[in-house]
Amino acid sequence: MEFITFEQQDFVGIITINRPKALNALNSSVLEELDKTLDQVDLSNTRCLILTGAGDKSFVAGADIGEMSTLTKAEGEAFGKKGNDVFRKLETFPIPVIAAINGFALGGGCEIAMSCDIRICSDNAIFGQPEVGLGITPGFGGTQRLARTVGVGMAKQMIYTGRNIKSDEAFRIGLVNAVYPQEELMDAAKKLASTISMNAPIAVRNCKKAINDGLQVDMDAAIVIEEKLFGDCFETEDQKAGMGNFLEKDKEKKLKVVPFQNK
Ligand code: CAA
Repeated sequence: MEFITFEQQDFVGIITINRPKALNALNSSVLEELDKTLDQVDLSNTRCLILTGAGDKSFVAGADIGEMSTLTKAEGEAFGKKGNDVFRKLETFPIPVIAAINGFALGGGCEIAMSCDIRICSDNAIFGQPEVGLGITPGFGGTQRLARTVGVGMAKQMIYTGRNIKSDEAFRIGLVNAVYPQEELMDAAKKLASTISMNAPIAVRNCKKAINDGLQVDMDAAIVIEEKLFGDCFETEDQKAGMGNFLEKDKEKKLKVVPFQNK
């Protein structure tokens, strides 16, 4: 791969968008490589992903403006679909994905971060949907996910004005869960990913599915989704081991990592 690197550390996979000369802007090749990378993740051995950008200046500075500059209406729609398909794959990926946002997260950069389950950022991070200044709408899910993430009023203000916000404001409006000094960001992301990885993987996957699928339907249907995924857990070794440890009241054992099953 030219623009994506993948590194496995225990149960955590780290995906880095690696096009620093263009501040990790998303052109078609980057999107295609990201798609392939996700297809190649070994889900029997990976319990959490971290997505970040190469360098210390930018996470992703948006979709590639050079590539978009000559698109026709049909090509523009196709380019939007290409990004949306990959981002949706990320959003519905069976395991949690943490965005470690290490700088600019503009346009498609803010949009890809919002496709992840959890967003944390460095103190130099800048967020925004500047598309209207370029004569386009956000096209990789921004008009939909920003409103769902920070609320309709704030999303409309950010999108209509195209104004960028700093990390502290992103934290205040709930766009990110936490802000770290730049040099501490990756360690914080790894620690979070590792904490998630130590929990029962089937239960964690079922939590993601329950939250994601439940948000698409009304509450009556949502709780049925939850019931089904809750019930599924009772067929797992992790449920027996996890509850058994608790009931044995063996402090030592309780603190031990349960040999969680993957499938
Ligand atoms: N597309 C293509 N190239 C980009 C890019 C982008 N989105 N963002 C930065 N680059 C390139 C620059 O062209 C420049 O390349 P050269 O060295 O070859 O000239 C290189 O990255 C470094 O950028 P700058 O010199 O501009 O760096 P800076 O520090 O002065 O500014 C910045 C940084 C404020 C992020 C500025 O680069 C910028 O405003 N980038 C564009 C941000 C943007 O508008 N993003 C939204 C794109 S539209 C979109 O994403 C649509 C969608 O929803 C699908």
